Amino acid sequence: MNSKSTYFYHAFLSILFAAVMVSCGGETPQSSAPSYPVMKKPATAKKSDIPSEVKSLLAKSTCLGCHKVDKKLIGPSYQDIAARGYSEEEIVALIKQPVPENWPDYPPMAPITWVADEDLATIATWITSLEVDEQE
Ligand code: HEC
Repeated sequence: MNSKSTYFYHAFLSILFAAVMVSCGGETPQSSAPSYPVMKKPATAKKSDIPSEVKSLLAKSTCLGCHKVDKKLIGPSYQDIAARGYSEEEIVALIKQPVPENWPDYPPMAPITWVADEDLATIATWITSLEVDEQE
């Protein structure tokens, strides 16, 4: 080996060494986007979804403890109630003064007296807007 080829040999080694350092260098800067698939909210709302402003009213008024949208719980589902075809005024009146004879298969609902009329009206409007499934 003459001195010239030794020089190239060293240069070659240093380039090789640098290349190895770069390729094994661990943390290569990457975009911050996560590489796993991210669940997206479905674009279409499900029928049993409750608009958030109504949901918070139902929750704070304890309605959700006894009523679900599409399944009977302690009380009839809101879809079953919607199927009765009440007007909003009738629904508000029935919440404040339930008529247990309307639902013989259920225990009587206690009158709800602590919810503001305008909140009951919001709830009633939502109930009348529910899509009614084909049912008895
Ligand atoms: C402790 C359980 C319970 C709670 C809390 C409750 N309900 Fe009821 N609800 C019932 C039951 C049981 C019935 C069916 C028997 C009846 O009407 O008395 C009913 C019936 C109804 C009806 C139908 C009335 C009719 O005559 O057709 C509406 C409307 C209603 N509830 C709305 C509400 C709303 C709105 C709330 C919250 C402000 C609420 N309920 C809270 C148990 C409950």
